[in-house]
Amino acid sequence: MLLELPKHAEIFGCVKFHEIQKVLKFESEAFESPLLKGITKDEMDEVLCRMVVVVPVKNEKLHLLDGVLRSIPTGCDIIVVSNSQRGENDIFRMEKDVVSSFHRVTKHPVAIIHQKDPGLGIAFKEAGYTEILDDTGFVRDGKAEGMVIGLSLAKSTGKDFVCFVDADNYIPCSVNEYIRLYAAGFIISQSPYSMVRLHWKYKPKVMEDRLYFRKWGRVSEITNRYLNLLISIHTGFETNIVKTGNAGEHGMTIKLAEIMAYSTGYSVEPYQLVYLLEEFWKGETKFKEAVNSGIEVYQIETMNPHVHEDKGDEHIREMLLGSLSTIYYSKLANDMIKKEITEELKKNEMIKRKGELKKNRILPPIKGMNIEKFVETLLDYSETLTMLSKEA
Ligand code: GDP
Ligand code: CO
Repeated sequence: MLLELPKHAEIFGCVKFHEIQKVLKFESEAFESPLLKGITKDEMDEVLCRMVVVVPVKNEKLHLLDGVLRSIPTGCDIIVVSNSQRGENDIFRMEKDVVSSFHRVTKHPVAIIHQKDPGLGIAFKEAGYTEILDDTGFVRDGKAEGMVIGLSLAKSTGKDFVCFVDADNYIPCSVNEYIRLYAAGFIISQSPYSMVRLHWKYKPKVMEDRLYFRKWGRVSEITNRYLNLLISIHTGFETNIVKTGNAGEHGMTIKLAEIMAYSTGYSVEPYQLVYLLEEFWKGETKFKEAVNSGIEVYQIETMNPHVHEDKGDEHIREMLLGSLSTIYYSKLANDMIKKEITEELKKNEMIKRKGELKKNRILPPIKGMNIEKFVETLLDYSETLTMLSKEA
């Protein structure tokens, strides 16, 4: 793969946000200049083998899940975390069928588990991570909760990287690109604490009778604007560095993923940036090793357009509210930014009055969790975990 190297980065304490990088070619010889990096297939394969891909899914079309699984590069382990419907119309069972036939034919290692598995509730409790549980002892609904399940299982594999891809993707090959871009970011990175966030140039829409490649996207623009403002009010310099506030697709080294906090609802991705700034720029973090190594955030623009399920206006609304809430309630926000967010939401008719914005619940880092205990308990009590290895 031939990739632009970031020409510019902004530094906030030990956190470095790199400028957007573009992919110039999917395949390349080994090559290195100050502006470009050529990554060979062998180099890429080596990193892919150290990667776990987590696919959160909730009632998506089975066709889409199937396409996503089949375009994940060889070498990566896959963990599907489903919160899909059970009962009479058992979508989870159908997903399990999709996963099994994928494995039967390809022998690609894959695991699937249901978010409401009572074993997960018991395992998280035993491991000392109760923040993810509801009053009845089950894991709560939500994508962030699904991600934390995936992350906990990924950590137990001993691999180095955890990456996320959504299950509602209409272009299977774009998933293959996403995962290779994560790997490319980890190859470029000098730090064991790194994150790669993807930026889509286009989100095509069908307009009348043709495909229109619309520059993405409105919520994203607003979220990025306020994240940048949050930075600017502290540095005194206007910035545009954040381009991936709502980057649904991202990957991290496990070392970074386990010291991150996760915001619930539809705000997990913007909150990651807020958290990094709060914890490692202005805050007194307890994660000193990360401070010494430095944390790198890469933003890479994909070649493939992003086409996913249209979940409607209410979903967009939830996303904007969730995203702006993480900024509004940040320790770094001042009265000026809070006022601007309130005005923005009123203008978009999202809220009527000041103080109506809901605060997101935050899941703490899993670093303190006892992973051995978690896995041991899960294996004892799980009702839905299916693990299909290379040999099976
Ligand atoms: P968007 O793409 O960020 O607008 O949000 P989506 O609704 O497409 O969600 C992203 C991914 O998370 C999709 O694959 C969803 O099926 C999945 N997802 C949504 N809610 C949940 C949940 O409660 N649990 C799990 N495990 N996955 C979820
Ligand atoms: Co989606």
